[in-house]
Amino acid sequence: MVPNPLDGEAPTPYLLGGTVETTRNPTIMALLPIIVAPDPRLKVKTEPVEAVDDDVRKLMDDMLETMYDAPGIGLAAPQVGDSRSVIVVDVSRDKEDRQPIRMANPELAWESEEEGVHEEGCLSLPDQFAEVVRPEQVRVRYLDENNEPQEIEADGILATCVQHEMDHLKGTLFVDHISSLKRNMILRKLAKIKKQSQKKSA
Ligand code: NI
Repeated sequence: MVPNPLDGEAPTPYLLGGTVETTRNPTIMALLPIIVAPDPRLKVKTEPVEAVDDDVRKLMDDMLETMYDAPGIGLAAPQVGDSRSVIVVDVSRDKEDRQPIRMANPELAWESEEEGVHEEGCLSLPDQFAEVVRPEQVRVRYLDENNEPQEIEADGILATCVQHEMDHLKGTLFVDHISSLKRNMILRKLAKIKKQSQKKSA
């Protein structure tokens, strides 16, 4: 997920390089290409991981690196062409004090009756934003990077972001929550941009 940079709540975009994580592991992490809608790979339903092993941990770390670089505050595996049930989130907005959350097989344990409206954007729908209605608080169970079961209760931007990323695991984009008129407008715009850039590179 990505907040609207024109919105007061948005994090300051920052460039990567010389961060604690990259200096610690200069060769291990990799930036992954982010798939842009419309694309059938964004519509796949993901498979749960059997266990969080080194391979899944590597995916989580690469996804985080890709997300920070973009920059965004959440990323789901289908956005980088992987059909495992993995998401990463960091809504801390402070590169000095990062608070990454790595989740495998996230499952909704509870959602509040109270709903909230928040503006959402997505790294797979660049520069497109819309207001989406979702439960204001959620509780989510998942496996962390050590294969330990965890449960978090989230509200505010974290609740929005986790729900947005969990949607990706079912092939659902934030535009699937808005009117078909607005959704088609956004998707047509993105398809046109894609076509133009393909023509340019051909
Ligand atoms: Ni997204």
